Amino acid sequence: MIGSVRLEVVDPTHRTADFGYTFHRAYWRQGYAVEAGTAILATAFGVLDLHRVWATCDVRNVGSWRVMEKLGMRREATLRRDRMARDGWRDSHVYAILAEEWAAATSGRAVR
Ligand SMILES: CC(C)(COP(=O)(O)OP(=O)(O)OC[C@H]1O[C@@H](n2cnc3c(N)ncnc32)[C@H](O)[C@@H]1OP(=O)(O)O)[C@@H](O)C(=O)NCCC(=O)NCCS
Repeated sequence: MIGSVRLEVVDPTHRTADFGYTFHRAYWRQGYAVEAGTAILATAFGVLDLHRVWATCDVRNVGSWRVMEKLGMRREATLRRDRMARDGWRDSHVYAILAEEWAAATSGRAVR
């Protein structure tokens, strides 16, 4: 195993889910997070018929938010000091993508 990706349907009534990913350092920068994230979003919208998928990351985790931007997710907010990290309170970016944005992106149409 080189890593894992998690999708959690947190609110079935409103068809929303959050997801996360982590890979072993030896496999970073080879496109695996974008590949796995694409598969997760395809499942979320194409199989589970979700409406909105979101994720958060430490603002300092450039690799993580670049993955989300490559997946077509939009930065919606920056939460101040919302999580306790090893070095103290951290700020977090919130990213999300809607079903219609995913459909437009995967059919080759611009959505912005
Ligand atoms: C964040 C993480 C999942 C990225 O995984 P990855 O497989 O290396 O990502 P990809 O190879 O798919 O890269 C996607 C894009 O992000 C960029 N990127 C990845 N890591 C980066 C870094 N440390 N700094 C800057 N850019 C980075 C890549 O260059 C690529 O962009 P490009 O195609 O324009 O070059 C991985 O570093 C990791 O597992 N980190 C530890 C756990 C973690 O932080 N999980 C996320 C918690 S929110």
